[in-house]
Amino acid sequence: MRTLTIEKLSESVGAEILDVDVDRLLHDEDLPGACLDALEQYGVLLFRELHADDDAQVAFGRKLGPLRAFPDVPPAAEEVMEVSFDPANANAEYLASNVFWHIDGLSDDVAAKATMLSARIIPADGGETEFASTYAAYDALTDDEKEGFADLHAVYTFEAIQRRSYPNPTQAQLDEWASRPPREHPLVWEHDSGRRSLVIGAFASHIVGMDFDEGRALLEDLEKRATTPDRVYRHTWSVGDLVVWDNHGLLHRACAFDRSQPRVMHRSTIAGREPIK
Ligand code: OGA
Ligand code: MN
Repeated sequence: MRTLTIEKLSESVGAEILDVDVDRLLHDEDLPGACLDALEQYGVLLFRELHADDDAQVAFGRKLGPLRAFPDVPPAAEEVMEVSFDPANANAEYLASNVFWHIDGLSDDVAAKATMLSARIIPADGGETEFASTYAAYDALTDDEKEGFADLHAVYTFEAIQRRSYPNPTQAQLDEWASRPPREHPLVWEHDSGRRSLVIGAFASHIVGMDFDEGRALLEDLEKRATTPDRVYRHTWSVGDLVVWDNHGLLHRACAFDRSQPRVMHRSTIAGREPIK
């Protein structure tokens, strides 16, 4: 097999895969395994200006794991969701919260293993995507904190992230948010790999058994410490870039841009199999 040529994108997280074109993406049978290993190691993989179309994105994604279908969304393809803040997009209302640090799907049964995002239309300025490792966030805790957090659980809700965009929600919004059940997870995720990460970000509502405000303050402090600039990789998009990130060990968010300009990304989601435990 040809080995991957990899260049780190920042000290803390991210790597660019340098020698893959669409032909290799689709036909090198060793590539998916090598990419999954690299994903575990680097958290974010960038295929710069790859220009994979939806079919190629889906075909490669399926080799990384089962893809989630998006039946409710007018799709580019069944397993591709258009990510756009354009009010004409059916998802735009809830996607607005992508600007807050989050792990995808914490209110789902099992959070996605990985997310693939490719840039189709980008604004002239801004609209980058930022990434920060929640493994690194755990590793940076003091020994006392590691001990103190070992048995903590938090509650994760769709409402918690949506409230950041809509602090004064309508009843219809509250009802729609409540249709996704709250989830309780350990604050520290002990992965099958043996690594540990913090389960933090905008889905986190409060800590079980702790005063509500005290719990929120702890969650906010952990999020802040996990995302200081020295811990963040900020990806500036070019059209055709494909980025894959390890949703089990990363926070991510979209950066600000002029919302009168279009920004269209195509997303595919590799389903999770490992519950948070
Ligand atoms: C997502 C997401 C960020 C972005 O698609 O899950 O958070 O920069 N996207 O569009
Ligand atoms: Mn997201």
